[in-house]
Amino acid sequence: MFLGCVNYPDCKCALPAQPAIYLDGPGGTQVPQCVLDAMIHYLTTCNANHGGVFRTSRESDAILHEAHQAAADLLNAPSAEEIIFGQNMTSLTFHLSRAFGRTLRPGDEVLVTRMDHDANVSPWVLAARDAGVTARFVDIHPDDCTLDLDDLRRKLSPRVRLLAVTCASNAVGTVNDVRSLAHLAHEAGVLVYLDAVHYAPHRLIDVQDWDCDFLACSAYKFFGPHVGILWGKQELLRGLPAYKLRPATEDLPGRWMTGTQNHEGLAGVTAAIDYLASIGTTSAAGPSRRERLVHAFTMIYEHERMLADRLLDGLAARPRFRVWGITRREQRDQRVPTVSITAVDRSPQQIAEHLASREIYAWNGNMYALELTERLGVEEHGGLLRLGLVHYNTTDEINALLQALDEL
Ligand SMILES: Cc1ncc(COP(=O)(O)O)c(C=O)c1O
Repeated sequence: MFLGCVNYPDCKCALPAQPAIYLDGPGGTQVPQCVLDAMIHYLTTCNANHGGVFRTSRESDAILHEAHQAAADLLNAPSAEEIIFGQNMTSLTFHLSRAFGRTLRPGDEVLVTRMDHDANVSPWVLAARDAGVTARFVDIHPDDCTLDLDDLRRKLSPRVRLLAVTCASNAVGTVNDVRSLAHLAHEAGVLVYLDAVHYAPHRLIDVQDWDCDFLACSAYKFFGPHVGILWGKQELLRGLPAYKLRPATEDLPGRWMTGTQNHEGLAGVTAAIDYLASIGTTSAAGPSRRERLVHAFTMIYEHERMLADRLLDGLAARPRFRVWGITRREQRDQRVPTVSITAVDRSPQQIAEHLASREIYAWNGNMYALELTERLGVEEHGGLLRLGLVHYNTTDEINALLQALDEL
């Protein structure tokens, strides 16, 4: 799938021809030229700290402001002031969980899930521990790696203050119906913190439609640089006791943005979101960035669905490999094209090494979804081999992958 970028005149968004097949996107995606250009442009023309009265500082301010607006468009946040940038999703989640932990009282509980990446588990478990309250785990159905909703309903008691749950599993690709989960949680008076890191490159986020309370993602998973993004409802971001320096502003978003930010990275975030918005369109003019994102994600969905079908059908014809998670055709809408396998006669590491020898890059292990790999009983056998597809992957690459698997 060739994806040209219309936002930067000299952009060469098609990744340079390389022999490698990148199936490591869930660990970090490749970056189009327009993102690199935006970062170089920042550092060469207006590199300065923000808030000054001179040209480079004013231009920096404008670039930072644009990054907040671009991220608001990506998440459909009501206001750019609700966008917090930071080092990565893990740091931002710890930042928020520590502040939230200061509001926990004896008898309170927090809920985490066995599907989540540990970055949306440990920060809440540790905040609960520090506050002397209980963290409880919502189970999964191990047969198809979907969330056990009955277990969630049982655990959503009036004692629960917050549910931390992922939009999509980074290990097995399951997509959660987070809109329904937020509704269910709110009926019980529970706040919802969504991890959209794995979801963001595949499907369109909509914090207003989902009515979640917080959401975090990471630009390096959606073709941008290493920058974390946190969104929260304005009244919550204003009300929670943020850990901050005294001279730093009490206003949003500044009260949550610790220290000097990665300015060139933020310029890259805007470029990555513009890149996404450019997919499937020939003109940057006309519809708003959000409208272009809506269209782009329809295109991404269709392409990825075709790739996922091809890969899952190919694996189904090779019973030597077990696919963990959703495989049934009629259920495949509930997954992104992140497909994890094990083999009867090879460890995940051996498969990864074999693929690497064919210049096919894929991750093996638990991918930090430790609760999940333990629940599935694969942790002590080396975890999973993860084949992570994104929109820049092609059917030819899937064919090469299947052929490489046959050579094992
Ligand atoms: C689903 C998910 N959540 C959270 C994280 C942590 O993100 P970060 O590296 O930005 O801290 C990852 C990283 O792999 C992830 O895949």
